[in-house]
Amino acid sequence: MPCELPVTSATLPWRLLRGSVVAQALEAKGFEVKAFDVDACCLGAAQPRGRYRGRMPARLVVLVSGAGTNLQALLDVSADEAYGAQVVAVGADRDGIEGLARAERAGVPAFIHRVKDFSSRGDWDLALTESCAAFDPDLVVSAGFMKIVGRSFLGRFGGRFINTHPALLPSFPGMHGVREALEYGVKVTGCTVFLVDEGTDTGPVIAQVAVPVHDDDDPAVLTERVKVAERSLLVETVGRMARAGWSVQGRKVRLGR
Ligand code: GRF
Repeated sequence: MPCELPVTSATLPWRLLRGSVVAQALEAKGFEVKAFDVDACCLGAAQPRGRYRGRMPARLVVLVSGAGTNLQALLDVSADEAYGAQVVAVGADRDGIEGLARAERAGVPAFIHRVKDFSSRGDWDLALTESCAAFDPDLVVSAGFMKIVGRSFLGRFGGRFINTHPALLPSFPGMHGVREALEYGVKVTGCTVFLVDEGTDTGPVIAQVAVPVHDDDDPAVLTERVKVAERSLLVETVGRMARAGWSVQGRKVRLGR
């Protein structure tokens, strides 16, 4: 008896555990659970092994701190229903940025939490977590979001919080990936989409693409070439995750079933 359950955090939390009493009861009745479920997820787990099973379109919350060109790429592509995901909210850690203007132009709700408005980093993290959770996302995308999230956030969204980095991780992590690759003298750099863990740019890699470095590149030129590749990679990766699902075993992320 296939059954499409209404999926809200109240009716079918994504933390429905495989093998849990609820899951077993549903399966015993012949229900095919169509929701985000997890093999071994737990609150605060560092490395949940997740498998997305398809709410379509998948709901994306995108976090930004600046220009928001990656956000724009996701907004543009999700206008096509076949893409399988839509941006339902945008979050920011500062106001007055182009990323927020892009959200407004697209008619997408936005929220802003500035660290300096909270008495502790933990309180900020909790507020960010709650604001994202209010939009019931399947995936949270850090797209140029210049903050490290904390335990509350990872406890809630670990395994489905992805980030994009303008270098081929684990090379050149941190804030200056493009400049450091150029200064090092590499001939090929690139970009990486990865699952966020507690470290800085250390989580399991989902997808990467290489970008050539030319002899006469300066940081601005190379940044632009990398960002073009990055937008395509992010759009392609998020779409594949939404449409085909993903699983994680240790550091290995597999797209599709
Ligand atoms: C991207 O290159 C991202 O990797 C880095 O910041 C940039 C954000 O660009 N962390 P945009 O705001 O999406 O244009």
